[in-house]
Amino acid sequence: MIAIASDHAGYKLKLELIEHFKKIGAEFNDLGPYCEKPTDYPVYAKAAAKTVLDKEADFGVLICGTGIGVSIAANKIRGIRCALCHDIFSAKAARAHNDANMLALGGRMIGARLAAEITDAFLSTAFSGEERHRRRIDAL
Ligand code: RB5
Repeated sequence: MIAIASDHAGYKLKLELIEHFKKIGAEFNDLGPYCEKPTDYPVYAKAAAKTVLDKEADFGVLICGTGIGVSIAANKIRGIRCALCHDIFSAKAARAHNDANMLALGGRMIGARLAAEITDAFLSTAFSGEERHRRRIDAL
């Protein structure tokens, strides 16, 4: 299960990613917003983060204009490791090295095709489980 949320600036990309999830048959939970009216990203970032912490979702995808606001908001929450990635290498490393449980994207930064590829790379990469990476995560 993937929790997905945005603010107004990420709304369009959120809808495009939802279409992608439908196409690949991925289960998702859209935590809003449900229209493009200006809104505050911490509200939606926290709602999606809660579903990840509560294990109602395996991963979360957050989208605002830059991806910065939602990632800052999510990373304030203990247990959330939200990675802002606008390239595939970072998305894979965020999972393999950082065991990131949320991905942040910027709706004003990248297009739908790249966002889908980054999301796929994030979701399909496992945490390496290597001791050095575990140690560093434990020290966060
Ligand atoms: C909204 O204008 C914009 O500030 C927000 O979407 C986000 O980019 C903040 O980090």
